[in-house]
Amino acid sequence: MHCLTLTQPDDWHLHLRDGNLMASVVPATARSFARALVMPNLKPPITRVDQALAYRSRILAALPADTKFNPLMALYLTDNMPISEIAKLKNHSEVVAVKYYPAGATTNSDAGVSDLRKVWAVLEAMQQHDVPLLIHGEVTASSVDIFDREAMFIEHVLDPLLNEFPALRVVLEHITTEQAADYVAQSSARLAATITAHHLLMNRNELFVGGVRPHHYCLPILKRERHRQALLDAATSGSPKFFLGTDSAPHSQSSKESACGCAGMYTAPAAIELYAEAFEQRHALDKLEGFASFYGADFYGVPRNTHQISLVKHTWQMPEHCEFGEHQLIPLRAGQAIHWQQVTTHV
Ligand code: NCD
Ligand code: ZN
Repeated sequence: MHCLTLTQPDDWHLHLRDGNLMASVVPATARSFARALVMPNLKPPITRVDQALAYRSRILAALPADTKFNPLMALYLTDNMPISEIAKLKNHSEVVAVKYYPAGATTNSDAGVSDLRKVWAVLEAMQQHDVPLLIHGEVTASSVDIFDREAMFIEHVLDPLLNEFPALRVVLEHITTEQAADYVAQSSARLAATITAHHLLMNRNELFVGGVRPHHYCLPILKRERHRQALLDAATSGSPKFFLGTDSAPHSQSSKESACGCAGMYTAPAAIELYAEAFEQRHALDKLEGFASFYGADFYGVPRNTHQISLVKHTWQMPEHCEFGEHQLIPLRAGQAIHWQQVTTHV
């Protein structure tokens, strides 16, 4: 197959930052995706509906006035989230979810939840108003190996949580392990998962090819090949429980190439193309449209997109760096080949 046309996709997990940094990166996503669910881990975090709507306006203001791109927002769950804020989310068309970061789990998660028991009433309200909970699923104890944190989270936090709140809808974000893929596949339809392109394409060797590779450091961290294969199985299975979320997470070159480098990969400039490469590895390009364009919309209860995009099998070179406000940003595959290319958006 040399040309691939699919319904315009959505990105259900995206980091855009704010201000001129955001203005530099949002066009890369708007190029391909009709909607994106924008993560609230700013500094300070987006914890209230009015802050989320103001952030959404800033994102739209950074795009051309006639943009069709629709940013959807999430609130950042803290120990102090008022129930009244959750009530506002019932059937909200722009602020559609609440994100749970275990405190200390990842970039800008210091304000995250220190103990889920502190937000029990908030979770009850989310269940009542049918507001999805998005989960960064890693335990944070320093005694737990970094490669085991997701599997431990599922056993010790997620499974008890789902039993406690049987109607709460949950997305386990950016899954990276066989345990997560199996757990989600075996659960009821109220649990789904996003999968990134980089976890479909790379195993943990990519952290150390010829030396330490800070641009391949993200959280959850890359895992063994066995887990990558399990993610490919899940993404190409045709199951509506798995859908696209890039977790494209821009950090300046200097903050990545540092003695203590930040976690996050910037994949937005070739996001849909990288997913096409991954699906092609499994000869499963016919499964890409469901994963990228249908199942996320269905889970969130929004209409599927009606426009289409086309990709062609054509090799091009990712630039060595991108603009990021006054900084530089190194995209995934910088200076290297990308094997698919989006050519058009059809109205
Ligand atoms: C994300 C970021 O930089 O905001 N980093 C990452 O490695 N994925 C945060 C997150 O989603 O964990
Ligand atoms: Zn993320």
